[in-house]
Amino acid sequence: MDSYINSSSFFKNNNPEELAEKYGTPLYVYNEEILRSRMRAVAGVITKYPYTANYSIKANTNIHILKLALEEGLNCDAMSVGEITMLLKSGFPKERIFFVPNNVSDEELSFAIEKEIMTSLDSLSQLERFGRLNPGGRCAVRINPGVGAGHSEKVVTGGKKTKFGIAEEDIDKIFGIAEEYSLKIAGINQHIGSLFMSPEPYLEAVKNILRIAERFEGLEFIDFGGGYGIPYHKLDDEAPYPIDEFREALEPILTDFVERYGYAPLFKSEPGRYCVAEGSVILGRVNAIKQNAGKKYAGCDIGMNVLVRPSMYGSWHDVEVIRNGKVVSRDDLSEITVVGNICESGDILAKERMLPEIKEEDLVCILDTGAYGYSMCSTYNSRPRPAEVMVKKDGSVELIRRRETIEDLMTLF
Ligand code: LLP
Repeated sequence: MDSYINSSSFFKNNNPEELAEKYGTPLYVYNEEILRSRMRAVAGVITKYPYTANYSIKANTNIHILKLALEEGLNCDAMSVGEITMLLKSGFPKERIFFVPNNVSDEELSFAIEKEIMTSLDSLSQLERFGRLNPGGRCAVRINPGVGAGHSEKVVTGGKKTKFGIAEEDIDKIFGIAEEYSLKIAGINQHIGSLFMSPEPYLEAVKNILRIAERFEGLEFIDFGGGYGIPYHKLDDEAPYPIDEFREALEPILTDFVERYGYAPLFKSEPGRYCVAEGSVILGRVNAIKQNAGKKYAGCDIGMNVLVRPSMYGSWHDVEVIRNGKVVSRDDLSEITVVGNICESGDILAKERMLPEIKEEDLVCILDTGAYGYSMCSTYNSRPRPAEVMVKKDGSVELIRRRETIEDLMTLF
């Protein structure tokens, strides 16, 4: 593919140069139609049995995006009191929120209990804590699926090398604690990790949790977790996650279980990245071109504070170059490293990439930044966080989060 921006008509009738001038750079730009289409795809993963897709909002908590999820009929999972608050603010009723925290305090658990939000406890110690705070209550437990998958060791959440979940050998202890505090275990959940392009590890984990589910009586729901990948190498024609093939493979596994269990509890999945990643790009301005020890660098204003994934995980994001409002064709490529404006040598967006020639004042457009982009932004080097705009279905552009200012940063002192 020569250009994702052009082939998806990402900016619709808007000129990216004009957006950059009007709203400034760095700028997160979202496309409403793409966001909605991915949300719809996850909502349809299971059709034969009761099912909800929980959008995992840690990927992106912009309230305007949460409202799209609400409209598309998704439920959501929250990781913190902050995320629960964002969801309530954007109109989600408590029944559509699932709290999946890790290592939280009495205060945080009490917040969810008071708001009557279904909570999953991910260790025996947290289950006891919940029991003490809410004897006779209903809750879920997070099982460690025993297998993990993901794009980096840092995002694998299943198996022996992670802090998450309750191991299968401790399940009897769950029943002991539940009895002691008269807790009803209404559901079980798991999450194997983030970003896999083949359905196999997830399907294996589904089979595994369904086998474990048979040890629990009267489950109301079983949540298989998220992790579906997206093609970050789309300019090299990487294939998307095969969601139809996945759906077809999943259904007979569920049917098998339903026959054994006697009824179908509510099945859930918990995708974050898949819903939002491809619906956003970041526009950044190139401020410097330089040559260091024979290596060419383009220095732009998208630092690791704006997009941390490349420096944190070595993640790949495709880059397009825009000059005078038009995408520069990829006919003639040469090697260049695209870096940000942060005082760290690891502040690298794209290392030794084959890209069209980049000149000062060009825009670089970083693709697939909707997931774990803004939500992982920081103010490192005292750089205010960027603005976010949404290209709506009708082509109009809405500012969905204003740029932070230095005055905003000063208000904390
Ligand atoms: N459910 C649970 C319990 C999770 O921990 C996560 C992600 C998800 C669902 C959603 O996973 P997804 O469908 O988005 O893969 N910052 C990393 C990803 C960290 C994922 C953390 N947990 C990145 O930028 O790749």
